[in-house]
Amino acid sequence: MKKRLLIYGAGGLGREVMSLLLALPEWSVEGFVDDGVAPGQVVVPGLVVKGGLEFLNAYPEPIDVVLGIGDPRSKAALVRRIVNQHVRYPVIIHPAAILQNRPAIQCGAGCIITAGCILTTDIILGDHVLLNLNVTVGHDTALGHYTSVMPGVNISGRVTIGTSAYIGSGANLRNSVVIGEGSVVGMGAVVLRDVPAGITVAGVPAKPLVR
Ligand SMILES: CC(C)(COP(=O)(O)OP(=O)(O)OC[C@H]1O[C@@H](n2cnc3c(N)ncnc32)[C@H](O)[C@@H]1OP(=O)(O)O)[C@@H](O)C(=O)NCCC(=O)NCCS
Repeated sequence: MKKRLLIYGAGGLGREVMSLLLALPEWSVEGFVDDGVAPGQVVVPGLVVKGGLEFLNAYPEPIDVVLGIGDPRSKAALVRRIVNQHVRYPVIIHPAAILQNRPAIQCGAGCIITAGCILTTDIILGDHVLLNLNVTVGHDTALGHYTSVMPGVNISGRVTIGTSAYIGSGANLRNSVVIGEGSVVGMGAVVLRDVPAGITVAGVPAKPLVR
């Protein structure tokens, strides 16, 4: 029997998560949850917004929920506010992602691994980590809860990424670098050195953005 699921976030990433789930026949998407869109609004043909946080917190039976939200801090804030004990966060892995040594790759609750990703071995993904299209992750690497990694990023071996970091599209992270909690790596950056918590780096080689 198919398992029912709601996607939290009716924007572009939410629709991408919906399209990922088309490749996983065990799931049946029931609809979207979104706080900024009126209930009943059609997101994609046949699927509407059911309601917002209140709707989800009042959901009367067990339900699987996937977050279609890219911003790590928004994900973290939302999960804190979802208090319904019926809510479960499944791990979603596209069949076109390659997890080479599956037993040596830990995926926390709510992780999403999209098409084209390749993960090698001895990797830990925290809860609600998003690996967007075509991300590679090398050996002995750990990504903190809520971190989002955008398309085409290459993460070398022995990299540590803190909680709620955002790695922009096409960035390359040198082996053994540490990316601090809440930091942002700009699109296309080449990260050669550790990035302290809470800052934005960009460029080749990556440097703190001066504003
Ligand atoms: C790094 C980033 C977060 C900065 O965003 P921001 O704070 O809004 O910065 P701004 O766009 O105002 O740019 C500030 C300066 O940084 C430069 N800059 C911005 N992003 C840059 C990048 N990725 N690489 C190099 N320089 C960059 C801008 O040219 C600008 O320089 P200037 O002041 O000399 O004109 C953003 O540009 C970025 O790369 N985000 C990731 C986007 C992404 O991966 N999306 C994926 C969607 S699936």
